[in-house]
Amino acid sequence: MCGIVGYVGKAKAAPIIIDGLKRLEYRGYDSAGIAVLHQGSFHVAKEVGRVAAVQHTLASSPLEGTRGIGHTRWATHGGVTRENAHPHLSSDGKIALIHNGVIENYAAIKKFLLTKGYTFASETDTEVLCNLVAYHFEKEPAPADGGSRLLDAVRKTLLHVQGTYGICVLGLDCPDELVAARQGSPLILGVGPDELVVASDVAALVSRTQNVVYLKDGELVAISGNTFQITNRDDVGVDPVIDQVTWKVEDSELGDFEHYMLKEIFEQPVALENAMRGRFSADESTANFGGLNLTPNELRGMGRFMFCACGTALHAGMVTEHLIERFARVPVECDHASEFRYRNSPLFTNTLFFVVSQSGETIDTLAAMREAQRKGFKVLAINNVVGSTIAREADGGIYQHVGPEIGVASTKAFTSQLLIGAMLALYLGRMRDMSVRDGTEYVAALKQAPDLVREALEQAPQIEEIAQRYARYEDMLFLGRLELFPIALEGALKLKEISYIHAEAYPAAEMKHGPIALINPECPSVFLVPQNEIFNKVISSMQEIKARGGPIIAITTAGAELPEGLADEVITIPACHEAVLPIVATIPMQLLSYYIAVARGCDVDKPRNLAKSVTVE
Ligand code: AGP
Repeated sequence: MCGIVGYVGKAKAAPIIIDGLKRLEYRGYDSAGIAVLHQGSFHVAKEVGRVAAVQHTLASSPLEGTRGIGHTRWATHGGVTRENAHPHLSSDGKIALIHNGVIENYAAIKKFLLTKGYTFASETDTEVLCNLVAYHFEKEPAPADGGSRLLDAVRKTLLHVQGTYGICVLGLDCPDELVAARQGSPLILGVGPDELVVASDVAALVSRTQNVVYLKDGELVAISGNTFQITNRDDVGVDPVIDQVTWKVEDSELGDFEHYMLKEIFEQPVALENAMRGRFSADESTANFGGLNLTPNELRGMGRFMFCACGTALHAGMVTEHLIERFARVPVECDHASEFRYRNSPLFTNTLFFVVSQSGETIDTLAAMREAQRKGFKVLAINNVVGSTIAREADGGIYQHVGPEIGVASTKAFTSQLLIGAMLALYLGRMRDMSVRDGTEYVAALKQAPDLVREALEQAPQIEEIAQRYARYEDMLFLGRLELFPIALEGALKLKEISYIHAEAYPAAEMKHGPIALINPECPSVFLVPQNEIFNKVISSMQEIKARGGPIIAITTAGAELPEGLADEVITIPACHEAVLPIVATIPMQLLSYYIAVARGCDVDKPRNLAKSVTVE
């Protein structure tokens, strides 16, 4: 959470930082600010609200200067106020700092700094960090070897800090320098021909350069002019590995769409094609993954799989659990990453771990992965962002290849995770008892997924009309069974996060064990009711809701015959293989949430209180 950008180069820093911050706004958007070092002073602009508010301020009083730092905030310590917005300046005015993360021992450090005469203008942990850098900068002499005094002060500061951080620091007395460091929060260095840019995400860099260095936890980068040096926490030099980013600026532009969420919903057919490209074997009866880093023998030896993830990614893991158990007949467990890391549950020896994370930076998922690795387990990652922390620390994995996902509500990342889960079930199934014939049929079904999604997307106008009728409700239930129960969970999550309607999901048959008490004409239920072996069971659950006056929206498959008048609204998706059904059934859920949120006037891409990448616990 929070997006940070630092710039040192020959161009004016402010417009570059503002452009970068706009591309990072999905990480937090309650306030923003920028500080530029020019002619011996810091020039700061901060505003409550979006980056555009700062841009507006700068339009009338532009900031000169070719080095600067900027921040878009998702509040942790202290309310959403101008004082709490970053960058923060030390009370002696000599250090400017931006921070993404949480300093856990800030209270003790603040107490110490107060005794040394430092003062505080905000309630943030970041200002404490900033003053501590100032304290070390003042206290320590310049390093005897002629090294950077700012770097030295930052390094000393970080020795006393517990928590997570991605920081960029400027010093008034070191006008050519910028120091950045990371621990638990992402930080990437962009290396242009005449400039260096530091940011939380490649999205903020790609308009300047495709050459990047992914910094690791514990690393610091000291920029001086147009050179940089990376050191680790032991002050040992690190040889930089410069990677090439494949994403282009256009990938993260809105184009003709009103919202990123809608753009990404409609990108799904192509995203699915990209996620499956080159991943079916030549004889077309199984899937292939390049980066698992396990031999088929090792994989076959695994007696259990465990999926850890958060939010939408966890729902993808839950669908995958169904598919692997069904098609590969291997037991699978799913857990909230945030719970797994503290639960210390007993684990079977031959368990293979998977973490699922679009961003690859979710701190709970990262911590769950590290916990499993610490216990000696191999962890594979299903992940979209190349070079993310999870991607780099996993023992192997599968990239989603769907390009940047900007909308806070995950859509194309989710369906591609479902697709990869389905391919994994096929791969594992074919290693065991699935026949060539069944495998060939399964592959053919998966290959149809993009077209089936295209067909499902054609329902958008009808779903928009339904959304108009249902946007006024304040409570909704989502009901599905088997592999569609996680899709019901995902439908409820999508609706909650972007329209602020209270929504819950249950396996349909669970209703009568309590939740049915909620049913009344003001609480609609969205039923996932495909034609399958338990179709009639779900119909019975629908009857129970109908009998109690609850409005019903049914999402069913072509050819299924719902009893006349049972559902108030019927959305029909194409009939398909059960491995593809969760993907196709997701589409109306996404569209319904989207159009309801729009009808309620909600800010779809920047829902309140949320951030795309959750890098704090
Ligand atoms: C999705 O709509 C949510 N914004 C959220 O649940 C998200 O899926 C979760 O935070 C996990 O993110 P990740 O996939 O980047 O790890």
